Amino acid sequence: MRKPFVAGNWKMHKTTSEAIELIDELQPKIEDLSNVEIVFCVPFTCLSVTAEKLHQSKIGVGAQNVHWEKQGAYTGEISPLMIKEFGNYVIIGHSERRSLFGETNETVNKRMIAALNNDLIVIVCVGESLQENESGKTEEVITQQMRIAFSDVPPNQLNNVVIAYEPIWAIGTGLACDPNKANEIIKYSIRKPLIEMYGEKIANETRVLYGGSVKGSNAKEYFIQPDIDGALVGGASLKLEFVEIVRAAA
Ligand code: PGA
Repeated sequence: MRKPFVAGNWKMHKTTSEAIELIDELQPKIEDLSNVEIVFCVPFTCLSVTAEKLHQSKIGVGAQNVHWEKQGAYTGEISPLMIKEFGNYVIIGHSERRSLFGETNETVNKRMIAALNNDLIVIVCVGESLQENESGKTEEVITQQMRIAFSDVPPNQLNNVVIAYEPIWAIGTGLACDPNKANEIIKYSIRKPLIEMYGEKIANETRVLYGGSVKGSNAKEYFIQPDIDGALVGGASLKLEFVEIVRAAA
């Protein structure tokens, strides 16, 4: 019922010529897959060439952050309208934005509302730190992230939202979360608040991804979980290995 979804988060990697090389390597190997939604979330500077390369392709183009204003005196920021020129997707609230660049649950919410109002499909990230995990706060932390991120987001916009559960301690560390555990956290800390906010139907229709050290070799273990609908992939999205992950989802 929920179409599998795999997004590559390129983070701060690739110049435009390197982006073209990577797309040329990956695209022909995943282009034929119809049973999975694939998105490349590239640096702002690569949006234009990526959009051009993928013009005729089913592979989607996305950014990794967005500001909530349409335009104005916000030096260094990019608005939803500017992203929409090139792609339909945007990552919001990635833990690196939260921990390194002062992103809060409240600013995640502002970005969500602005992105959705400008017809972008949002990949919103939630997840707990190692310390929160070890002190038994996972459910509390993620439930709070969910409630604030979704405040004032109307139910009719939920079909343009994909949620990524990314335990911070699993990102880029090689320490992937146990798939059964990830499924349980998604069930109780993501789908449960969704049910409370939007009801069973919408909660059941909303796609939830796992992210954090997803590799070609472990992807399938996540995708067989009932509450996991795909992956947000960092490091492995920059390699041929991404093909294996996408194929596992399809
Ligand atoms: P990783 O990153 O796959 O390199 O762990 C995931 C992410 O940050 O989205």
